[in-house]
Amino acid sequence: MTRAHRATIFTEQAKVLVNHAHPGGQHVLRLRAPECAKRAVAGQFVHLRCAVDIPLRRPLSIMRVSAREGWIELLFKVVGHGLGALSNASPDDLMDCLGPIGRGFAPDESRSRAVLIGGGVGIPPLVFLAEQIRQEGNALQPIAFFGSELPFPFELAESQLPVGGVAASATHTLNLLEQWKIPGRLASAAGLPGCHSGYVTDLARDWLSTLDRDELDQCAVFACGPTPMLKATQSLARDFALPSHLCLEEFMACAVGGCAGCTVLLQTDAGPAMQRVCVDGPVFDGYQVYPA
Ligand SMILES: Cc1cc2nc3c(=O)[nH]c(=O)nc-3n(C[C@H](O)[C@H](O)[C@H](O)COP(=O)(O)OP(=O)(O)OC[C@H]3O[C@@H](n4cnc5c(N)ncnc54)[C@H](O)[C@@H]3O)c2cc1C
Ligand code: FES
Repeated sequence: MTRAHRATIFTEQAKVLVNHAHPGGQHVLRLRAPECAKRAVAGQFVHLRCAVDIPLRRPLSIMRVSAREGWIELLFKVVGHGLGALSNASPDDLMDCLGPIGRGFAPDESRSRAVLIGGGVGIPPLVFLAEQIRQEGNALQPIAFFGSELPFPFELAESQLPVGGVAASATHTLNLLEQWKIPGRLASAAGLPGCHSGYVTDLARDWLSTLDRDELDQCAVFACGPTPMLKATQSLARDFALPSHLCLEEFMACAVGGCAGCTVLLQTDAGPAMQRVCVDGPVFDGYQVYPA
């Protein structure tokens, strides 16, 4: 049964197609959810009922969609009870899926270089953005920097696409990005082979440092990841005077704007304001979040 909610958010009985386990309690879950797949844009998320006996849903970013085949793909790392239950999902299981929710990324074609920075389970919305840009075939040229302390839950490849300025140890990327002809490099402080040993924002800084002002004026930053990474990304964007769009995660109850349980303080043009991450975000202007 499919029911429209607020005209743009749908509840569907999503069928599990694939649940692929990766090291470190990471899972890639593909669900048949055609209404969500038709409408989702990068940066939006679903609110999933992980098991019949767990009433509180869990929010997860959408990583890939096929509107034609009617599926969405999610990547999650088990934290506690809810995602623990989700990790046991088997093909053909049904689960209540609310989505797509929130304001996603809105790249502006006047800045042709989309600099994508993702950390850990913040990588999914950037994979979605990379694929969306590629499918739209517009003038945007993404470049991607992803970091993880756990083995990346993706097939990796040695990159043939040059990325100037980065450490020689950073040789690998996601195979998906390479197939899409999107340059990318990986970082990890866990000593993963083929990765820069350090923070993902180091990679982005090293690459940005090779650009002149005219080239920098073509760049805009899009990021999702843990709060320290987002704060480092905010500083990076400030240092290079670049616009930035940060996708936040907050504790959520309703996820449809009704409970105010997910509000964050923003410094807007009109002064300080509390905004709901679920429906006013999760993507916000990087110059407005984390006010000092
Ligand atoms: C918009 C959004 C997108 C997200 N996308 C992803 C993703 O793609 N992959 C992924 O692995 N994780 C993602 N998260 C974080 C994920 O929702 C939490 O890790 C998850 O809810 C934890 O549930 P649990 O049952 O495993 O843990 P528990 O600790 O049992 O959860 C208990 C309660 O705390 C809440 N909670 C715990 N940690 C978080 C957190 N970091 N953010 C929000 N709520 C939390 C849960 O919703 C639940 O209500 C996202 C969060 C948000 C808000
Ligand atoms: S979670 Fe209820 S308003 Fe955002």
